[in-house]
Amino acid sequence: MKRPVLAANWKMNNGPTAARAFMETFLGGYAPRTDRTVIIFPPAVSLSTVSSAAAGRTDVVAGVQNIHWAEKGAFTGEISAPMAKDAGARVVLVGHSERRHVFGETDAQCAKKCVAASRAGLAFMLCVGETIAQREAGETERVVTHQLREGVSQTSNLISADFLLAYEPVWAIGTGLTASAGDASAIHTLLRTQLRQMIGTRGDEIPILYGGSVNADNAASLLRAPEVEGLLVGGASVEPSSWLAIAQTR
Ligand code: 13P
Repeated sequence: MKRPVLAANWKMNNGPTAARAFMETFLGGYAPRTDRTVIIFPPAVSLSTVSSAAAGRTDVVAGVQNIHWAEKGAFTGEISAPMAKDAGARVVLVGHSERRHVFGETDAQCAKKCVAASRAGLAFMLCVGETIAQREAGETERVVTHQLREGVSQTSNLISADFLLAYEPVWAIGTGLTASAGDASAIHTLLRTQLRQMIGTRGDEIPILYGGSVNADNAASLLRAPEVEGLLVGGASVEPSSWLAIAQTR
């Protein structure tokens, strides 16, 4: 994937009708680019709409916000990696803070989801990030390192796995508080060092995105910060005009 990676996580916004309108407006204003990749993570019900709208655009891809680790079976309400792929997803978000903190997702479950994504031929974007209490206790580095190591612990042959990382401090998500470019850089650098330890120079090829109250005004300064190679955007990605400005950040 071309870096930077600009990713829109719509969370529980934009059903199929809104998604269709969004894609029409967004793609109408976003000419194909070869210098970056845009990923849209719609709710699963809007996946086909988004992927169909982006068909023919190699610079805009669809992703799924969550999967179950099994391929199929009696798991009411869940969707599997092969199903998401069938609906047009190329990437899976794993371990988003809302999955971890609202729905109780564990590192062990994240690890199984990463395996399931790879098995289905999807890239995974593993999200890590500390809570405010953990930050204040000086545990940020330990927490994100642990989440990274545990998240990929079941992925065999990690060196050839297709994946991305997102650093999203929990205290910055949806709060209007953004990590400073320097704070983001420091954690991204730590994650890069971990990746190098795990998979050598291949670690340099893994995009590391920042997320947490990114908007059209702060996107440029975050994207200029060393080791910040993309943005994962929630609230400011739901409306096409705001997303268009962020996707075109210089
Ligand atoms: P906000 O941009 O709304 O803070 O959300 C960030 C996020 O969780 C993206 O995955």
